[in-house]
Amino acid sequence: MIVADFTLRTGRPARECLWYAADFRNLVDWDASVRSAVKITEGGLGSGARFELRLRAGLRETTMHYEMLRFAPPHTATLRGEAKGATVVDEIRVEPDGDGARLHWHVELLLRDGLAERLARPWLMHRMRQAARRLEAVLRPPPSPRLGPVGRIADRMLLPGAARFTRQGFAAAKLPPITERAEGLHVAITGATSGLGEAAALMLARRGARLSIIGRHGDRLRALSQRLRVDSGARPRIIEADLLDLDAAARAADTLAEADTPDVLINNAGAIFAERGKSAQGFERALAVNLLSPLLIMQRLAPTMAQGGRVINVVSGGMYLTPLDLDDLQFTRGRYDGAVAYGRAKRALALIGALRAADWPQLAVHAVHPGWADTPGVQSALPGFRRVMRPFLRNAKQGADGMVWLALAAQAAETRRGVWFDRQPHILDVLPRTRLERDRIDTLDRQIDTLVGQWLSARGVAA
Ligand SMILES: NC(=O)c1ccc[n+]([C@@H]2O[C@H](COP(=O)([O-])OP(=O)(O)OC[C@H]3O[C@@H](n4cnc5c(N)ncnc54)[C@H](OP(=O)(O)O)[C@@H]3O)[C@@H](O)[C@H]2O)c1
Repeated sequence: MIVADFTLRTGRPARECLWYAADFRNLVDWDASVRSAVKITEGGLGSGARFELRLRAGLRETTMHYEMLRFAPPHTATLRGEAKGATVVDEIRVEPDGDGARLHWHVELLLRDGLAERLARPWLMHRMRQAARRLEAVLRPPPSPRLGPVGRIADRMLLPGAARFTRQGFAAAKLPPITERAEGLHVAITGATSGLGEAAALMLARRGARLSIIGRHGDRLRALSQRLRVDSGARPRIIEADLLDLDAAARAADTLAEADTPDVLINNAGAIFAERGKSAQGFERALAVNLLSPLLIMQRLAPTMAQGGRVINVVSGGMYLTPLDLDDLQFTRGRYDGAVAYGRAKRALALIGALRAADWPQLAVHAVHPGWADTPGVQSALPGFRRVMRPFLRNAKQGADGMVWLALAAQAAETRRGVWFDRQPHILDVLPRTRLERDRIDTLDRQIDTLVGQWLSARGVAA
């Protein structure tokens, strides 16, 4: 039998360390011999949870099944793995240590072929030492988010900046896994039934967050709720609202504010329209979904949100190229271009979100840009872009990384507003022609207020 013991000094609370290390789906982050890892039982982590791993064994691949024998957070977890010809028991113990925790990892590995065990021992010990070092690195306290000189230059040059929106850009950013726990944290997320919103909901629930999921299709919301239950045992609150409809957006916000106000609001729902069109209430559709509804939800919910709360508005790279037209906010003139209408709405969301943050000193109001990710939204709204860019597109989880990080990371609260991309603050204006002076931003704010206010008061609803 091969027995190994490692003691790791982490910079994270004991609870976070145990949940992260004992969830063997995370092994792909820190054990180079693990190619893939899935949980095959339904529900949250606990005794009886089982995982299926694909492992590299020399030139071959093999499958290992793990079962959690004991899970007693924040202190200890024991897991037993079985593969062809091998049995392994992993025991993880965590104890507080200053600002962080000390993690003890004890491994007992038995290969049924004694000779193979003797031959493989040095290599296996090397692999385990590597994994322990990587786990320690992952659980180190992360640095404060700051954009370095290279990033600042890239930000001001369109092509190097845009290259980072890709899957390759995500890899180059070398972001550590998000290990924060979210127990007790209530996150409301719009547009959770597809793409980035769905990925974010799964990531947040896996980290222990309570969720309110807001979407326009009851059946899709229920299907997501079922996926969340299977993946992490979460039971989200479902709120149906078509965000083209400001009445529905206001009702969703009021439902959220009435009881169990969220700690975090993620305004993620968004859409590009190929044709010019108006919502039933007379608003240009891209403006309604991408700007008016998210602002309305934020405006109604923010005053009820507690100290330390966060609003995260999901914006887009399209905004970098599109100046606002304050004389034609509803895009009534000229040939309609859905991508331009969308880019303008996202730019306005970033600007007005930051401006209104001043009204709620207890909150941080962030804008986040996800890069370019392959989602059902991109597939249907931008098929040409997707065809050309497919090898470069992020997956939904990579696209959702920024919003999840902003929802959970302590460093994201060091500043109260910003435009974020890959966990770093960025500039909003790359081109001089997109820049708006403060008085013009105030004009934009008043125009939006007028649109929303007039419409709501016409319906006898308090703005
Ligand atoms: N993917 C990218 O590369 C990328 C890049 C930049 C920014 N973004 C932004 O990221 C966010 C998510 O985009 P995605 O790529 O994940 O797109 P997606 O796959 O189309 O998901 C969009 C989500 O928004 C919801 N939604 C759309 N219209 C709605 C409405 N009228 N009422 C309520 N919900 C509505 C959709 O609901 P249904 O499921 O019912 O359709 C869906 O859940 C958007 O704000 C988008 O602008 C994405």
